[in-house]
Amino acid sequence: MTNEIENSVVPSSRRDFLKTSALAGIAASFGVAPRVVGASSLSPSSGAIAGPIAISSRNGQKSVLKAIELIQSGADALDAVVAGVNLVEEDPEDTSVGYGGLPNALGIVQLDSAVMHGPTCRAGSVGAIEGIKYASKVAKMVLERTDHVNLVGQGAQDFAVMHGFPVENLLTEKARLEWVRWRENMSTQDDYLPKHSLESTGIGAVTEKIPRHWGTIHCSAIDLAGNISCVTTTAGMAFKVPGRIGDSPIIGAGLYCDNTVGAAGSTGRGEANIENLCSFLIVERMRMGDSPEAACLYACQRIVDHTKLARLLDDKGRPAFNVQFYALNIKGEVGGAEIRGGNGTFAAATPEGGRLVKMAYLYKG
Ligand code: GLY
Repeated sequence: MTNEIENSVVPSSRRDFLKTSALAGIAASFGVAPRVVGASSLSPSSGAIAGPIAISSRNGQKSVLKAIELIQSGADALDAVVAGVNLVEEDPEDTSVGYGGLPNALGIVQLDSAVMHGPTCRAGSVGAIEGIKYASKVAKMVLERTDHVNLVGQGAQDFAVMHGFPVENLLTEKARLEWVRWRENMSTQDDYLPKHSLESTGIGAVTEKIPRHWGTIHCSAIDLAGNISCVTTTAGMAFKVPGRIGDSPIIGAGLYCDNTVGAAGSTGRGEANIENLCSFLIVERMRMGDSPEAACLYACQRIVDHTKLARLLDDKGRPAFNVQFYALNIKGEVGGAEIRGGNGTFAAATPEGGRLVKMAYLYKG
């Protein structure tokens, strides 16, 4: 509290002062270092007319000035306060309100606002409205032009559009970057990663302690005519980033087949396979004379050789994840291999029946 300001807002004729000097007096308090006055210094004394006056949260210093300016020219208090907050709603530097506000977990800016009109005891509000910069104006419109009080979500936006509000992108670059920083640092166990180097550890979902799930099936077969075909299908990695696709739908990664050579397919960490196109590699190795099992081991070794990120390696410097390959050549020979194994098997069947076949591996465990 400063005496200087306290004294300046307690005039002998309060009403006259507020009409003529409030703007200047309050403006003076919004200098580089806004001064603080006691609440009692702005309260009406008994019998006084308490206006015009406007208050706001600290980020509304220009809002109250605007509100007072409009009130001084005859505006209703509701119109005045809405016009006041509009200045902050449209300010991209204020990340708490309107345009430039920080988005929700999915990066979508959703705004809430409500208004109440004292003289008529009416209210209007919008909740989780997207794409409309001036949520407070829409809330006021709900009050004025509906029989309701609350509109939310798409309905609120549709209502705003009906009344001529433009739909705009409210996510500024500043807010987007802030959201990305939040998203990437929220967990060390999901698939959103902050900037990192080859040496970075302790981020990313791939560790032995936190196994991930890749529930994929690959199947290949030779028919009575000697033709070979294959399929790979999956729900993909559990908890993946929306939009992620794995190796399964990538020809040459999740599967590959050459009717003169054989077929190959995969399960396991798709990212490692995509970056090495291993099913294509396996078929080509079989073309060059490798057995199916040797070709699968070759692909496993290729992934090991190409895995450079420390966060993907165990304490022995080996991939902490696993990938499995399955191959069948045109002679009917089969083979499978995985990076980490010991007890792995794959299924095979002939007209005589089915069996499980042991998989080769590079590293035990
Ligand atoms: N291999 C399955 C996936 O990565 O989605």
